[in-house]
Amino acid sequence: SRVELFDCVIFGGGGDLAERKLLPALYYRDRDGQIPAGSRIVGVSRTERSDEDYRIFAQKAIELHVDAADVEPEALARFLSRLHYRSVDALGDSGWEELKVLLDDGGKDRVRAFYLAVGPTIFGPLAAKLKAEGLVHDKTRLVIEKPVGRDLQSAQQLNADIARHFREDQVFRIDHYLGKETVQNLMALRFANVLYEPVWNHSFIDHVQITVAESVGLEGRAGYYDKAGALRDMVQNHLLQLLALVALEPPSTLKADAIRDEKLKVLRALKPIDARNAFQVTVRGQYQAGASESGAVKGYLDDLGERSSDTETFVAIKAEINNWRWAGVPFYLRTGKRLPRRASEIVVTFRPVPFLIFGDSAGPVSQNRLVLRLQPGEGVKQWLMIKNPGSGGMRLRQVALDMTFAEAFNIRQPDAYERLLMDVIRGDQALFMRRDEVEAAWEWVDPILRAWKDIEQKPQGYASGTWGPSRAIALIERDGRTWHEPE
Ligand code: BG6
Repeated sequence: SRVELFDCVIFGGGGDLAERKLLPALYYRDRDGQIPAGSRIVGVSRTERSDEDYRIFAQKAIELHVDAADVEPEALARFLSRLHYRSVDALGDSGWEELKVLLDDGGKDRVRAFYLAVGPTIFGPLAAKLKAEGLVHDKTRLVIEKPVGRDLQSAQQLNADIARHFREDQVFRIDHYLGKETVQNLMALRFANVLYEPVWNHSFIDHVQITVAESVGLEGRAGYYDKAGALRDMVQNHLLQLLALVALEPPSTLKADAIRDEKLKVLRALKPIDARNAFQVTVRGQYQAGASESGAVKGYLDDLGERSSDTETFVAIKAEINNWRWAGVPFYLRTGKRLPRRASEIVVTFRPVPFLIFGDSAGPVSQNRLVLRLQPGEGVKQWLMIKNPGSGGMRLRQVALDMTFAEAFNIRQPDAYERLLMDVIRGDQALFMRRDEVEAAWEWVDPILRAWKDIEQKPQGYASGTWGPSRAIALIERDGRTWHEPE
């Protein structure tokens, strides 16, 4: 649908997220003609800067983070002309009047989006401040990044603080994984084809694996990360969102609440993990010195500059969903830093055929697998058994119907933030987390965190450049299954 005239105000406008993601994403959408003339992007932070300084900052950001071939001088100049900057003391008094004057100057009809690319501790106070300063009108939207809380109680508190000043339909909680093409493709694959849905259940699916592997380490985020750990940083949001989309019942429409109602049901049906079973079904790991793609790397403690830390940089979990569709189907989740490479995928493994008519000479019959690759090289692969072409007699072999999007369509894969930012302007919340969803995810995560403390389940070391600690391999092999090695 059409994008309305808007002002997008980025708190933390000079920060890392604005530089690496938000400004490049907005540039692309502008270049592709989706930003209506007259729309403005306003960078805000405490630092004194002129509009001109901010345009220089943005130009550098775009030159660094947009493919050189896509930096078109005319498009860039037009984009920079839309940028403004105001120095505002987020929790103090200075600068608010100037910001208000600028925004009011744009007229009251346009969409106004406040993007809080700032530390989570000031989400609540800043939301209050926006309201108190008279900046919130009917078409105002508030965008917050994760983390939404660090446990159930703090998430509820934050949601309540925000709800005092913004209606739920004005609040956009970003989980950028939902903006990835393949994730949206999951909906297309499941609900625009008749093939999968009839077999998408415990009768035909053996198990599901969700892997989000990163090769990077701490990336200078020690302060945040050491207090969070992989369960809070990745599982509570990204992995559970992926799980919910694989597992949800067909929503009746594509409307935000129809989808989010179904995701919520899945999250609420997750089998609890607590002190009684945590040791059997969860694995924590922490990377040690080893090798990454780029050469030798230090261990987590060295990166941190500390002598000890119990923070996990790797988690594997055998999750289960207690409902009719999924009873008895394990969802194996794993994510970690300093793994062999950046690779994220969802793998659905179907059950073995019920009866084998082929003899030993035909060779092994592998279970069908559907592999959805999120990154890199987004695409879908369906593994099937066929007759080995040409050979005498009946010999079988496994082949993949391979749909690698970049090869198939020869178009640029947009970054998740492009789609998400435009959805904020359009007012479409389908790819954003609703309050109750975030809280349901914490409700499942909290007892795991508590169990780890109570039973003193510490992270097991793993060498950088490997697929995590040995217990992670045991977690799945104990069930007679193996992790799918991302290609
Ligand atoms: C973020 C986490 O949400 O996602 C980071 O805080 C992580 O720790 C990042 O590196 C991964 O995102 P992507 O898009 O690079 O897979």
